Amino acid sequence: MKPLLDPYDRPINSLRISLTQRCNFNCFFCHQEGEHNSLGELTPEEIETVVSVASELGIKNIKLTGGEPLLREDLVEIVQRISPYVSEVSMTTNASRLADQACSLKEAGLKRVNVSLHTLNDVTFNKITGQRYENTVTEGIKAAKECGLEPVKLNMVVMKGINSDEIPELIEYSKETGTVLQLIEFQELENGVEYYEKFHYDLEPVEMMLEAKSKEIVVRDLHRRKVYYLMDGARVEVVRPMHNSSFCAYCTRLRLTSDGSLKPCLMRDDNHVSLISLIREGEPRERLIDAFREAVAHREPFWRE
Ligand code: 5AD
Ligand code: SF4
Repeated sequence: MKPLLDPYDRPINSLRISLTQRCNFNCFFCHQEGEHNSLGELTPEEIETVVSVASELGIKNIKLTGGEPLLREDLVEIVQRISPYVSEVSMTTNASRLADQACSLKEAGLKRVNVSLHTLNDVTFNKITGQRYENTVTEGIKAAKECGLEPVKLNMVVMKGINSDEIPELIEYSKETGTVLQLIEFQELENGVEYYEKFHYDLEPVEMMLEAKSKEIVVRDLHRRKVYYLMDGARVEVVRPMHNSSFCAYCTRLRLTSDGSLKPCLMRDDNHVSLISLIREGEPRERLIDAFREAVAHREPFWRE
């Protein structure tokens, strides 16, 4: 089968699947993976169908996301069903419900997790998420390590006046816990210009500081993200998508919304292709393949030179 290549010569090798729009946190800046007004969720069987088609088209990596994937009671079943089709299933989670499930998820075939952890301060934690679950999150991180969901990455969205002064502490915490810190630039939401101006924090000076402290810097294929291997043993990855044309030029992922549409770009919702309607109407597999090809044909870099 011809692998997926978009009109800008970008190969598609990963699919980011939103399992639900529900979340037990209420982060004020949440981009909800660029989804609005979800029309329900897919069944484990439907998700398996999507992943089997994706794998036939050369997609090797699946990232489960949300909302919060752990709110789905059938999460272990979903992982079990899809993991045989691809080389890696990973998950982005707020980890507040991870401690109990980390080992069952690992057994089901989950390889690794990204845990959203923006602060270690309980007041700031509450300000960001609207919740007081900081201890359950750190317990979740511990469990992920113990169950071998490696590497455990910590997603820290850096925000001016909120948590930008905590970067050194988070680096230290990641070193102590044997996790990888990802510093993520605050991204503008569709109706969030106001928030963006208030909270956006430029990560360029942070990258210069990291560079000075690194023994090695590796550029990843995905998005040309830089990974800094610090002399003291910490590992820090920097994700800077805003106005970054090389981030988009090296984007190799497609998305699936929680209600079953293929989504070519996080930043746009005017070019989705419905997949679930085809599955529910019992259309043959070739039509599902066509839908993937159509979504890929719609892909264009959002940020350009
Ligand atoms: N900007 C940057 N990152 C965000 N996330 C959610 N909303 C935003 C935003 N506006 C993060 C979550 C999670 C990851 C999938 O994206 O915290 O870790
Ligand atoms: Fe959004 Fe993630 Fe926060 Fe939930 S935990 S509100 S999905 S950013």
